[in-house]
Amino acid sequence: MRITVFSTQAHDRRFLQAANLSRGHRLDFVEARLDAGSATLAAGSEAVCAFVNDRVDAATLEALKASGVRLVLLRCAGFNQVDLVAAGRLGLTVARVPEYSPHAVAEHTIALLLALNRKIHRAYARVREGNFALDGLLGFDLHGSTVGVVGTGRIGACFARVMLAFGCRVLAHDPAPDPALQAAGVVYAPLDHLWARSDVLSLHCPLTPATHHLVDEAALRVMKPGVLIVNTSRGAVVDTRALIAALKQKRIGGLALDVYEEEADLFFQDLSADVVQDDVFARLLTFPNVLVTGHQGFFTHQALDAIATTTLDNAAAFERDGRPLHPVAVGGA
Ligand code: NAI
Repeated sequence: MRITVFSTQAHDRRFLQAANLSRGHRLDFVEARLDAGSATLAAGSEAVCAFVNDRVDAATLEALKASGVRLVLLRCAGFNQVDLVAAGRLGLTVARVPEYSPHAVAEHTIALLLALNRKIHRAYARVREGNFALDGLLGFDLHGSTVGVVGTGRIGACFARVMLAFGCRVLAHDPAPDPALQAAGVVYAPLDHLWARSDVLSLHCPLTPATHHLVDEAALRVMKPGVLIVNTSRGAVVDTRALIAALKQKRIGGLALDVYEEEADLFFQDLSADVVQDDVFARLLTFPNVLVTGHQGFFTHQALDAIATTTLDNAAAFERDGRPLHPVAVGGA
């Protein structure tokens, strides 16, 4: 199958080409982000391969359909960037990679949490400057603390189990509680309990209308003073402006983000010689207790290998059976 790969980075090319050696698809790599304007680059391809910050809205899908595309291969788990109603109306098939390495994202979440709590980002810079003072680097024992986990699917479950192994009390909220986690000691509770009781909050739910700005001003108001908040799910699950207000009032102890609501204009690019135009993001970076990584939770060898393999297998199954291995339900209102 001929597939146009959008938003190509060097690692996408490397892992997709390696996986394709035994599969034989024709891969056309383009660096452009997929949107209504760039969609015509896919002319001649049956499929496009898109990533998290591609804009797969109705206009893009219409342009893809007009170019002869029949299949949208998402090389990620989340599909909030796709207008699924439009895809259904246009008869386009959408596929994703539901699971590649939940460990990759859970481990990055833990890296962020440990760094934020023990101020590793500040200590690293200090020691390199010859400053060995401990002032301002005080953390707390995670052992014995209460960790709130929102969303206990693949990633949230991995994260919760590691927190149990640290000796934390783990509270969780999920519309579909996991009995195995309950047996391991995780206690499910309503969101307001999580907000009020957690020393650490970690977000692992998908971005949906129900989870948009789940952590908002009202939620922040009832949280424990000094709470650490980690978001590796999707940027818009938190209200960034409300977080900035709470940080300014010193109500939260720290914030670690791997995702940001407006990340599409920033992440996955080298903007080090440029001027950041996003004032909200720029304000975030001024806080000593804010740690940001640029959507790298998934970025391990094992995860990239699994993403490439599953993406190409989705294409092969569609070619063979008219249905990818991991379709995303399209249509509906
Ligand atoms: P999953 O589908 O296995 O689990 C999601 C869980 O969230 C499910 O158990 C679901 O019941 C729950 N959920 C749904 N609505 C909820 C709500 N309103 N409140 C609480 N829980 C709710 O997904 P997985 O693989 O664990 O991924 C979770 C999220 O992590 C993805 O949706 C994606 O946004 C993000 N992600 C981030 C990556 C990164 O590089 N930072 C990489 C991969 C995923």
